[in-house]
Amino acid sequence: MSTVQVLHVQPAVDFSHELYLEDIYQNAVISLKAEEHLDNRVASEADNDDVLDLFEGLPPMHSGPVDKLIREGIRNSATASLSSEVDAEQAFFVADLSVVYQQFKRWTRCLPGIEPFYAVKCNPDPYVLRLLAALGTGFDCASHGEISQVLSMGSIDPSRIIFANPCKALSFIRHAKKSSVDMMTFDNADELYKIQRVHPTAKLVIRILTDDSQSIVRLGLKFGAPLANVPELLAKAKQLGLDVIGVSFHVGSGCKDPLAFEDAVFRARTAFDMGVEAGYRFTLLDVGGGFEDDGFEVTASVLSGALVKCFGGLMKNGVRVIAEPGRFFVSKAFTLAANVIARRAGGGGSGQEAPRAPEGETSKNDEIEGDQTMYYINEGVYGAFNCILFDHQKVEPIPLTIGRELVGDDLRKDPVVRCSVWGPTCDSIDCVRGDAMLPEKLEVGDWLGFRQMGAYTICAASQFNGFERSGVVYTRGVGSGRLGVEKALVP
Ligand SMILES: Cc1ncc(COP(=O)(O)O)c(C=O)c1O
Repeated sequence: MSTVQVLHVQPAVDFSHELYLEDIYQNAVISLKAEEHLDNRVASEADNDDVLDLFEGLPPMHSGPVDKLIREGIRNSATASLSSEVDAEQAFFVADLSVVYQQFKRWTRCLPGIEPFYAVKCNPDPYVLRLLAALGTGFDCASHGEISQVLSMGSIDPSRIIFANPCKALSFIRHAKKSSVDMMTFDNADELYKIQRVHPTAKLVIRILTDDSQSIVRLGLKFGAPLANVPELLAKAKQLGLDVIGVSFHVGSGCKDPLAFEDAVFRARTAFDMGVEAGYRFTLLDVGGGFEDDGFEVTASVLSGALVKCFGGLMKNGVRVIAEPGRFFVSKAFTLAANVIARRAGGGGSGQEAPRAPEGETSKNDEIEGDQTMYYINEGVYGAFNCILFDHQKVEPIPLTIGRELVGDDLRKDPVVRCSVWGPTCDSIDCVRGDAMLPEKLEVGDWLGFRQMGAYTICAASQFNGFERSGVVYTRGVGSGRLGVEKALVP
C-alpha cells in the first residue's frame, strides 16, 4: 500500500551568482594571484624546492610544506582545465613523508624497546614503505600480495616480515615458505595443520584475544584465541612438532583506552606461562597495533609500565618485543584536496523529496536537513572516504578556495552555513559529511581539503562508477623532518 507524500518544492535554480563553467576555471587561474601572498610566508622553504626522481616508476618527490603543494595542485588543475583535459579537476593527495619520519622518531623515543613492524594494510604506499624500510622497521603483512610488495623493494630480509594473519590460505603459507618468511600468527587448530603440511619450520606466534571494547575497530570479533583455549592449542602445536616462539595480541584498531594495553600485557604473560607448561620457551611478544596519534605518549607510558611489570625479567633474558602499528605512522601524513564538481539547492532542484541518507547507511552523518545546500565532490565513500564506512571516521572539510579564491588568513571572516557534502557516484550512501559547516560563498569549482587521510583510505578505495583513484603528490616536507627523509632515502 502506498501513501501520498507531500513533496518539498524548491526553485530549480536558487543560487545568486551563476557562472559558466569556463569562467570558473578562468577565475581559478586569475585568483591564484592570492597565492603569491600566501607563498611569501613560506618563501624560504619554497626557494629550495628541488624535485628528486629517486625511484624508477614512482612519482618525483618534492620538498616544502603541504599547503604549498596543494596550491600548486589546484593551479595545475586550473591549467589542465583550460586545455580541456579529462578529469582536469581530479582530487589528489599530498603525502608529507617528513610526518612519517617524525612519527618514527616519536616511536623510538617513547617505546625504545619495542621494534615496530609497520602494518602494510593500513597504507601500502610505495614511498611510505621505502622510507620505513630505510629507517629499519619490520613489516606486518596480511597476504601474499603484501609480502611480495615488501620483498620487491629488494632491501628487506624476510626475517623483517611477520605474516600476521591468523587465518591464511594454504597457498599463501606455501609461498611464505618459498619466500623464506617464517614468522606467522595463528589462533586455531586448523591453521596448525595447514602450517605443518606446507611450512613445518615456521616460527609461530599465538594470537590471543584481549579486551578491544574501547577501540574504533574491534578485531576480537574475528581473531584471537581466548586464554582458556591456549593450553589446548599449544599442546596441539607441540604434538605436530611445530615451533611456537611467542604470543601476539591486538587491542583493536584506534584504541582509545591505554589501559587496554596494560590488560593485554597481563594476559600475554599468562599465555607465556602456559607456553612453559606446554614445553615451550617463548622468545617473542608482539603487542600488535591500535596506537593512536592523540595521546600516544600516555599509551606508550602505560604499555612500558606493564611490560616492565610482567616481562621485565624475560626481556632482560632476551625476550624480543615487537609491535604492528599502522595508523600511527601514516594518518597525519596524507592530506586530500577534492574539487566541488556540483551543487544543488537543498530539497532537490526539481521538486523532489528532501534528501535523506538511507537509515543506518551513512553511519557518521548526523541529521541531513532538507533545505540545506548539497555539495558534490570528486572523492566519496567508494573511494578514499571508504574510511567513513569501514573505519568509522568522521571527516572535516576545510575550504581551500572560496568563490575560486585561494583561502588565506581571512578565512575566519567568511560566514558559514550548514550544508552536506556528497561523493561523486550515483549511490545515495555516498555521503561524505551530512552536517558540514562551510562558507556560504562556496561554489562549483572550489576545493575542499581533508586532513589526516593517510590510514585505511587509499588502500581500500574502489573505482565504482568508473571514478579513478586519486593520485598522490609527495613532499619530503620542511626542517628536520625533511633532512631525516633525505638522509634515509637519498643515496
Ligand atoms: C593484525 C593487525 N596488525 C596491525 C594492524 C594495524 O592496526 P593499527 O592501524 O590500528 O595500528 C591491524 C589492523 O587491522 C591488524 O589487523
